[in-house]
Amino acid sequence: MRTVFNGAAIALTFLSLLLLSPVTFSEKCNPQDKKVLLRIKQELNNPYLLASWDPETDCCDWYCVECDIKSHRITALIMQSSVPDTNLSGHIPPSVGDLPYLQNLEFHKLPRLTGPIQPTIAKLKNLKYLFIEYTNVSGSIPSFLSQLTNLQLLHLSTNNLTGSIPSSLSQLPNLESLHLDRNKLTGPIPESFGSFKKPGPDIILSHNQLSGPIPASLGQIDPERIDLSRNKLEGDASVLFGSLKRTQILDVSRNLLSFDLSKVDFPKQSLIWLDLNHNNIYGKIPVALTKVENLQQFNVSYNRLSGQIPQGGELQKRFDVYAFFQNKALCGSPLPPCKK
Ligand SMILES: *[C@@H]1O[C@H](CO)[C@@H](O)[C@H](O)[C@H]1NC(C)=O
Ligand SMILES: *[C@@H]1O[C@H](CO)[C@@H](O)[C@H](O)[C@H]1NC(C)=O
Ligand SMILES: *[C@@H]1O[C@H](CO)[C@@H](O)[C@H](O)[C@H]1NC(C)=O
Ligand SMILES: *[C@@H]1O[C@H](CO)[C@@H](O)[C@H](O)[C@H]1NC(C)=O
Repeated sequence: MRTVFNGAAIALTFLSLLLLSPVTFSEKCNPQDKKVLLRIKQELNNPYLLASWDPETDCCDWYCVECDIKSHRITALIMQSSVPDTNLSGHIPPSVGDLPYLQNLEFHKLPRLTGPIQPTIAKLKNLKYLFIEYTNVSGSIPSFLSQLTNLQLLHLSTNNLTGSIPSSLSQLPNLESLHLDRNKLTGPIPESFGSFKKPGPDIILSHNQLSGPIPASLGQIDPERIDLSRNKLEGDASVLFGSLKRTQILDVSRNLLSFDLSKVDFPKQSLIWLDLNHNNIYGKIPVALTKVENLQQFNVSYNRLSGQIPQGGELQKRFDVYAFFQNKALCGSPLPPCKK
């Protein structure tokens, strides 16, 4: 009798515990991570974007975060506004540095996010993706980023970043993609970029105020995409060309580049996008260009090219006058015939 009663009592206690505190039983979220997330919410002045971050609920269920399936630690913090007039404003919260399992930290389309790239990000050694895009984050690109050796994607496009590009970024052994476009970056492309682990990350640096020559060392790497357009780069870009490369996209348009195009060769199977418009490039268009199989975008307008446009391949089929116009003395289809 007594044992039966005891068994029932235990069952009853267990049941009431379940009913009274469902949170303690079902919450997966790590308590330390939860504390940090609530601090982040406070540091951002309780923005509407984080309204789901209710202390009474499991933080693995909150918007803008992801928990690891096994450890339940926070592995991703992704703040993104689809409404441009979001009222999330302020700096990147310093407490993001206290989410040690974070692999993915993203801020997208937050026009009122200001201040520097938060120094506490240096603590996030597991970070693979760092995206700060379409914000008003300012200051320079910190060199501590080169210590985050697991970084695969570093996308800092369309912000208010100034200063020069830290040469130490080339030490990131796992970097696959470096997007620093649409900022106010100045100074040269670091010489060290030639020592990226081969083949090297996609390098997108367009719409900045970068100056000086394209380092010859860039010829040592072989990224699939290079976009250096709309800067103030000068001199020779021929190291970016070559028949043995695997380049798909090469855009150096709207710079001050000056080199002899007759001397370069092209990756005939991979190249799909070649934009050289608005530079001081001279010489002839090489016949090798007619052997490029999948060229879809091509523009050499506004340069100092001369001689006959090679006939054949995709050049005349796909591209009109506007891909070739405004040169020194180019002639032949699709431009008017050369004078005999
Ligand atoms: C932010 O937006 C939310 C939802 O529209 C609103 O409730 C809140 O008052 C706004 N806060 C500020 C500071 O404008
Ligand atoms: C930066 O802020 C200005 C207003 O101060 C705004 O016009 C601009 O769109 C913002 N930039 C971005 C990328 O959100
Ligand atoms: C962008 O940076 C400049 C300084 O480079 C600063 O004057 C301006 O206020 C910044 N814009 C925003 C919206 O933070
Ligand atoms: C080439 O670039 C020039 C200058 O930006 C532009 O006017 C022209 O439309 C472009 N042509 C093609 C085919 O993209």
